[in-house]
Amino acid sequence: MKYSLSDFTLDEKMKLLSGKDFWHLHDLDGKVYSVLCMDGPHGVRRISEPEWEIETGANSVAFPSLCVLGQTFNEELAGEMGEALADECIDEGVDILLAPGCNIHRSPLCGRNFEYFSEDPYLSGVFAREYIKGLQSKGVGACLKHYCLNNSEMGRVWTSSEADERTMREIYLEAFRIATEADPLSVMSSYNLVNGVRMSENKTLYNLLRGEFWREDGVIFSDWAAVQDEVASVKAGLDIKMPHQSYEVLRRAYDEGKITEKEIDECAKRVLLLIEKCENNLAKRGKTSPKHERYKAAEKIAREGIVLLKNNGVLPLKGDADILITGIKPDLYVSGGGSSNLTPDYTPKTLDVAISEAAPELLIEKADGSQWSTTYYRAYEGGCGKDAVIVLVNAEETEDGDKGSMRLSRESELLILENAKRCNNTIVVVRAGCAVDMSAWEKKVGAIVYAGFGGAMGNEALAAILMGIESPSGRLTATFAHTYEDYPVSRAYRTHAVNSYSEGLSVGYRYFDEHPECVLFPFGHGLSYADFEYSNIQISGKGEIYTVSFEIKNTSGIDAKEVSQVYVREINPHVIRPYKELKAFKKLLLRGGECVKVKIQLTKRDFAYYSLSEGAWVTKPGEFEILIGRSAHDIKLAGRVTI
Ligand code: GLC
Repeated sequence: MKYSLSDFTLDEKMKLLSGKDFWHLHDLDGKVYSVLCMDGPHGVRRISEPEWEIETGANSVAFPSLCVLGQTFNEELAGEMGEALADECIDEGVDILLAPGCNIHRSPLCGRNFEYFSEDPYLSGVFAREYIKGLQSKGVGACLKHYCLNNSEMGRVWTSSEADERTMREIYLEAFRIATEADPLSVMSSYNLVNGVRMSENKTLYNLLRGEFWREDGVIFSDWAAVQDEVASVKAGLDIKMPHQSYEVLRRAYDEGKITEKEIDECAKRVLLLIEKCENNLAKRGKTSPKHERYKAAEKIAREGIVLLKNNGVLPLKGDADILITGIKPDLYVSGGGSSNLTPDYTPKTLDVAISEAAPELLIEKADGSQWSTTYYRAYEGGCGKDAVIVLVNAEETEDGDKGSMRLSRESELLILENAKRCNNTIVVVRAGCAVDMSAWEKKVGAIVYAGFGGAMGNEALAAILMGIESPSGRLTATFAHTYEDYPVSRAYRTHAVNSYSEGLSVGYRYFDEHPECVLFPFGHGLSYADFEYSNIQISGKGEIYTVSFEIKNTSGIDAKEVSQVYVREINPHVIRPYKELKAFKKLLLRGGECVKVKIQLTKRDFAYYSLSEGAWVTKPGEFEILIGRSAHDIKLAGRVTI
């Protein structure tokens, strides 16, 4: 240890327990290394407002949102994004990236779902883990967030998320447990309360995190301005209160005997270790990748994260097609709002330009439907006589607020419907951060592409998919039900101060497996331009390790990536359990006509549930089914195993 507590006065140790300014930790006037933290999960934020005390004119690469990254179902891309973001951080002198978030998509109205991976804890945890590994492998620290049960933005600072322990363990903490396998440099506690205790002073959940999942000396940050009681926070083991100083409060509390030096030392020693790790990281840093490599990574992720939900055959577009591109402000750069927002350092290509570059012979007309009105369209006749119409529609999503509805704006829906009247090959491209209510129009259109918030390279990626340069391979990481009322969260008890997770384990497909009639597009759904056949499942093993193998054949003539999902189901559980749960997934490139054998290993823990009576994860002896699916509702193979 370079820094030991005995080297510092009590006042200095108190100063270490909060920020020096909005983004820096305290450096005690140069006595310790000055650590710079910065947002955000899909790009290094440019802070150009001088009042935020830092000018980073960063040329930030705007990567796709974490939800789009999750939709790739390709965990290697999470590592690649982490590495590319590390390079962005190194260029800007950032020591800790305030990312990734791994909160669960509990409600489709949550304003921050775009910053999170999925409704499923396993998928969320794996992607957060691989992202952290990539980021930290290049000498930049992660700050896994927001711990925990921060699944709504409305009233986030004063609302208590109320959940029973099994629900917490199996759904909301499980993603953090898996993610901490990557040993993040830090964790950020969330704004909300959990079962009545504020997360910036929740000793019980800090002890669970440090004692069961992570490390005793792991540093916990507050969320920015989340701390309501500095003394209670320090006593609970919250190490760093951001963004600003709380020295005076701690000094006074100490003088009044409300806090001891020992309690301050508990936090100060973890902060000194973190500062030392950040300093040591500098030596770990190698040459950063060139900018264009990072843009390539961003485009690759955006491409693989695009989900083709419906296709009447209009896609991929023919090279000589005559198309109309329209939308409400179709050229608008679309991303989620709040602390993760970025101003890309280069003006992203519009879709018409990206398509023209991909297919120069294609005829493109563009009409901004923003001033859309029936009169306008009657005059303009919209998509009449076109081979296809692409309607770009956007959902507004932001931190610090939940959506009032899952539906698109009325003008977007009307634009879709009017074009669908004029052209059977109307393709709707949805740029949103999570599930959208499509019930008003999805039956009337020829194709639906869920592009998510694709970042600065989003339109290049979209053009590649629309033109068939690459087959779509993305899959939904959250269930798209018909309407908000189909989700159990819509019936959960909620007041100004309490958010009751009364649906328990019934989140996402864990609920919809029993209610398929509510589902428009299931978890894991995504079409390809190729066709695949699954066969020959074999299950072997006993005791701790089980091997599942099966074959996939690409029966089409085109190369394409395919995602297989592996679910586990207990046949006759003696406790309430979801019908099935995702325990593995695999994405493979299959050449046209190619057949591959997939081998997946499961452990005994993959069959377990959290037993309240035993206070542990247990796998009871019994018969289980292993299901191989293209989605939660498209199961291709099944086999049984006795544990
Ligand atoms: C915000 C967010 C958090 C972000 C921090 C700094 O309120 O909740 O994710 O990293 O404050 O901007």
